[in-house]
Amino acid sequence: ACGFRFRVFSDGKRCSTSKVVRKPEVLPESKRQGTCQRKTFVQEQADRLEQANNSILIKCPQKVNQHQLLKSLERHGNIAHYHFFEPFVDGQLEGLVQHMQLTEEDIRLRFLVCSLLQDLCTAILPSVQIQPFGSSVNLFGRVGCDLDMFLDLGNLNIERKRTRVQRDSSLEFQVKMFRCERVATQTILSVVGNLLQHISPSFDSIQKVLNARCPVLRFCHSPSNLNCDLTASNRIALCMSETLNAFAQVDARVRPLVFAIRCWARAQNLTSTVSGAWITNFSLTLLVLFFLQQCSPSVIPTISHLRKLADRIDHRVIDSVNCTIVSDLSKITPSNNKQSLEDLLHGFFDFYGSFPFQKKSINIRTGQVQRRSDDSPMEIINPFEENLNVSKNVNKRQLLHFVELSQNASLKLEKQHQLSSNQSWGLMTLLQHGPTQQARATDGAASIHPTPKVERFTDLFHSLWSTKQGNPEAK
Ligand code: GTP
Ligand code: MG
Repeated sequence: ACGFRFRVFSDGKRCSTSKVVRKPEVLPESKRQGTCQRKTFVQEQADRLEQANNSILIKCPQKVNQHQLLKSLERHGNIAHYHFFEPFVDGQLEGLVQHMQLTEEDIRLRFLVCSLLQDLCTAILPSVQIQPFGSSVNLFGRVGCDLDMFLDLGNLNIERKRTRVQRDSSLEFQVKMFRCERVATQTILSVVGNLLQHISPSFDSIQKVLNARCPVLRFCHSPSNLNCDLTASNRIALCMSETLNAFAQVDARVRPLVFAIRCWARAQNLTSTVSGAWITNFSLTLLVLFFLQQCSPSVIPTISHLRKLADRIDHRVIDSVNCTIVSDLSKITPSNNKQSLEDLLHGFFDFYGSFPFQKKSINIRTGQVQRRSDDSPMEIINPFEENLNVSKNVNKRQLLHFVELSQNASLKLEKQHQLSSNQSWGLMTLLQHGPTQQARATDGAASIHPTPKVERFTDLFHSLWSTKQGNPEAK
């Protein structure tokens, strides 16, 4: 195996590839990239070519243990360096998570912004807490995602009883005075908005979206460049974040799959950074989780099961809504499902490419499809507040797009299966636009959007209208 390359082909669909380099490749520190004595471009080219000339690439069948293969090769000569490449697709999906996920620094920065904001808010609400929720903490956040926070006024009531006189600041007084919690929330967010505007130069681009179903204060924390959404008393959403976080941890395939589907949806323009009549990342995540509950055997348990495993200390009822789930995740039995990520990805597209959205709704609490209870095109039941539909904002056109694109993706994966085993494929295949969209793009239209721009604006207009009219579940 010296001086030439050979490949061991396999019939197995999923192969591991190892690359064996026969010459020592470890460069002295001074020669590594980033140090002062850098290699010239020409040198680098020459070295890389020489390295390649002394390398062999082996595709080893799934049944053969890579390390045993390495041992048997060592009997024929010294191996200076070796690299194992993960199976193509699964490796790519895991790589996607590594590449896109929030780093430790990102997470620290997000909590720091909460803490800075809390310091400011305590000037008017001494016992308030600012808590992050959403993708910053649910393990599905990607670099650059927004920072969702809520003003936890829960302590206010307790505090009020304890130190009624001392803590009776004017804003707390208003909270007491307002019968309607919504008006109190709007007032508090408005006052916090003014505070940020006039007192802290770090927070800018402040927008008060107080008439939405869930009033929100939007702003940017300029030193960290984080776009922030601040709501009030949103504890149920925090429980939702904890639940998603638990699902992300119960099986290693959950995160790569959710990241891949979110990435696919973004590339296909199914999702957007602005809210509208299209599917949100949150809804997509629930779709993935529901699909994983439908696999046989299931990859993840239902929320009802997580509730059954809960201890007494886990018991939580917020505004009469039972949000209890187990906190000790070691109590959850690992799944017997051994499907690869590639299979699951294919399964997801197959499942939703033919899902009867008109008749059935999705419920991750029970893990079962249900008869529809409302007349919107798509129904994803809110796992904690079952009278609410998380995907109420999605219009028929956007749903059809989602279904059509899922069918296209499934077909693409089907084709890949039919290719010979030595022809690998990549995630990029899924991220490219399908023939219909390409045709649209070349058909005189300047954009490759799945929905022509005019239609997208119409959708946006309709969604703004329905929010104004009081869409019961629009965030
Ligand atoms: P990103 O797109 O990465 O920001 O994902 P995200 O999960 O943070 O979504 P988003 O910022 O839109 O919402 C933050 C959190 O609010 C979500 O994780 C949910 O817990 C909750 N949320 C979002 N949309 C809805 C909704 O339509 N209904 C309910 N009940 N909760 C929602
Ligand atoms: Mg978010």
